[in-house]
Amino acid sequence: MKIAAGCDHAGFELKSLLVKHLLDSGYQVDDVGTYSDASVDYPVYGAAVGRAVARGDADLGLCVCGTGMGIAMAANKIPGVRAAVAHDVTTARLARQHNESNVICFGGRIIGYEVALEALDVFLNARPLGERHHRRVEELEKLQELWPVAGWVPSDTELETLLWQEANRQSSTIQLIASENFTSPAVLAASGSVLTNKYAEGYPHKRYYGGNYFIDEVEDLARERLKALFGAEHANVQPHSGASANLAAYEALLDHGDTIMAMSLDQGGHLTHGAKASITSHVWRFVPYGLTPASDDTSKPGEIIDLDALDELAQKERPRLIVVGTTAYTRLIEPQPFREIADRVGAYLMFDIAHPAGLIAGGAHPSPVPFADVVTLTTHKTLRGPRGGAILCKSEYAGAIDKAIFPGLQGGPLEHTIAAKAVAFREASLPTFRDYAHKVVNNAKALAGAMDAEGFRLVSGGTDNHQVLVDLRTFDSELTGKEAQDVLDSAGITLNRNQIPGDPRPPFVTSGLRLGTPAETTAGMGVNEMQQIAQFIKRALKGRHDREEIAKVRDDVRELCNLFPPYPFVPKTVD
Ligand SMILES: Cc1ncc(COP(=O)(O)O)c(C=O)c1O
Repeated sequence: MKIAAGCDHAGFELKSLLVKHLLDSGYQVDDVGTYSDASVDYPVYGAAVGRAVARGDADLGLCVCGTGMGIAMAANKIPGVRAAVAHDVTTARLARQHNESNVICFGGRIIGYEVALEALDVFLNARPLGERHHRRVEELEKLQELWPVAGWVPSDTELETLLWQEANRQSSTIQLIASENFTSPAVLAASGSVLTNKYAEGYPHKRYYGGNYFIDEVEDLARERLKALFGAEHANVQPHSGASANLAAYEALLDHGDTIMAMSLDQGGHLTHGAKASITSHVWRFVPYGLTPASDDTSKPGEIIDLDALDELAQKERPRLIVVGTTAYTRLIEPQPFREIADRVGAYLMFDIAHPAGLIAGGAHPSPVPFADVVTLTTHKTLRGPRGGAILCKSEYAGAIDKAIFPGLQGGPLEHTIAAKAVAFREASLPTFRDYAHKVVNNAKALAGAMDAEGFRLVSGGTDNHQVLVDLRTFDSELTGKEAQDVLDSAGITLNRNQIPGDPRPPFVTSGLRLGTPAETTAGMGVNEMQQIAQFIKRALKGRHDREEIAKVRDDVRELCNLFPPYPFVPKTVD
């Protein structure tokens, strides 16, 4: 067995005696210093012992300083270390048996040599008792998930304060923005990793800069995981965002000026699907398609993609590309009919699954990958990864897609984000993620049902995915989406106003709201909480001119959020 031993000047004499005892007893010892009684600082030596144990270079550690406490604190800063100060045989034995301590610390000015020697032997020979003690140690280890947040820029107090405030906002208000989620601590950690330091223009094994051997492995891992997750032939994980993924896909498949059919913004499409304000509409010619009209027939409420009209328009316009994908649309999209339409007119078929990517990965929605030539996605919505984009395609388009991203559209890839994408892709491949994806949909159905019961009209009559689109006019004809969003913000409910199909109000005002369940489902909320949220929304909007009522809803929201903290280590504060 190998013991790492360290001390400061005040512990030097006792450590020297104990090291000799260890060597005489047949242990291997890695003495990290200090090697005299000249004054030194204990953190250096505590951390060195901690690192040796955490890395597995030593089996256990021994630390000595004046009281044992400072050097224990230093060792405990290293993840995986459980350093305990022992005063006698009993505390030394329990430190090992109960707390699974892996570094024993003594006070050189406190404990005598005889006691220290006996306590050290007991510590080295005792075995962890397991069971309830082990469960507690596991809980202890989980606290290390703290570090991506707790380590935030402590040297920059202005920024650190803002980061904690935002963490607290996310934890104490209800997050219903359909395109947001709470990433895991592992995704946060990878996003904040040293990979942000590295330039890696190009692709794995074909880079323009040196020093990319580990970066290549990271990007390869991300690509392979993404391909496996969706059963795709080729993956590009470099797009900085969903918008750049879409631009690159158009650039790869088309000539400038070619015709693209995509859903218009006011029917539920995205800006990059040819909106006037988007550069996409300056480069390519977009022909918009849309939804069937709304109907009073509850068995056929309408407002679903009008496939017949799309087919007819495609025959007339002969587009070179048909884009299928939405930003505000609540129904499941079956890929096959779109493939048939594209084949009839000889068009490429692209799916933009920015929104449902996680539902597809988790098996709650059908995958368009076998049907599409190209699939673009964002990684930060239902897929629950870091902010960014990705592209999947058939092998025959791999070269064109890669070239369109780099050098076509981007410079150096964000490898820290790519590492975080790799983490998220692994998480999305686990059975727990399938469960999550189905819960997201169930929660959205529950939220839709509850909103309907409160008198809000639902666009398309309900939902099959993670979104609920609410028409406010049946609830209150005076209430705009903008006002509702502002009122709900002050009540602690975060969502966005949204145009509804055929909205008479302009995009900045709107008559609708978009609600989504990905984030709060991650936080652990279920069907009952969705019903409560609908109640909160109704109360806040009905009482929007009554400050006391808004304050009451805010309190109730905070109480609910306290039960479902997305990051349990964020301290509760009152705003
Ligand atoms: C369908 C669709 N495509 C593309 C995007 C663009 O993603 P990003 O905001 O990452 O550019 C979005 C974002 O909301 C989207 O909904």
